[in-house]
Amino acid sequence: MINVLFVCTGNICRSPTAEGVFRQLVADAGLTAHIRTASAGVESYHVGEPPDARAIEIAAHNDVDISGQRAHAFKPADFTAFEYIYAMDEGHMRILQRRAPAGAKLAMFLEDGDVPDPWYGNMKDFNDVYAMIAERCQQLLAAIVEENNL
Ligand code: 4NP
Repeated sequence: MINVLFVCTGNICRSPTAEGVFRQLVADAGLTAHIRTASAGVESYHVGEPPDARAIEIAAHNDVDISGQRAHAFKPADFTAFEYIYAMDEGHMRILQRRAPAGAKLAMFLEDGDVPDPWYGNMKDFNDVYAMIAERCQQLLAAIVEENNL
């Protein structure tokens, strides 16, 4: 099993969206038995809560159901439980790097820059974030498939 984790601040907007989109792509590729997808927040303010209603709505509009997800906080054991850990922005990356044991495999979600925090934004911000995440998830899955000969 290959374990993939997306990390953002509160685990209610960006990383749950990435989790939902990525899991759907994995299912569409027939790889559910090979790839486990999860998400977490570097902060614990929203632990136990469902994703933000706006993120749920935009995902649903794209036939991705994230309504059953519940926020949880990143924990040290995640560094070894997941082969792929993607930080949605530089702030998350810095926090993870500070906590990481030597050799932990961390990467930015985007190759160039941050997925902006839509929390204080409007529906357009959530839509833009969704599009960004959907495009990048396809690339990441293709790379993981190739790297692991799936
Ligand atoms: P997320 O968005 O990191 O994409 O889930 C945020 C959600 C909540 C907060 C910040 C960002 N917050 O500060 O509570």
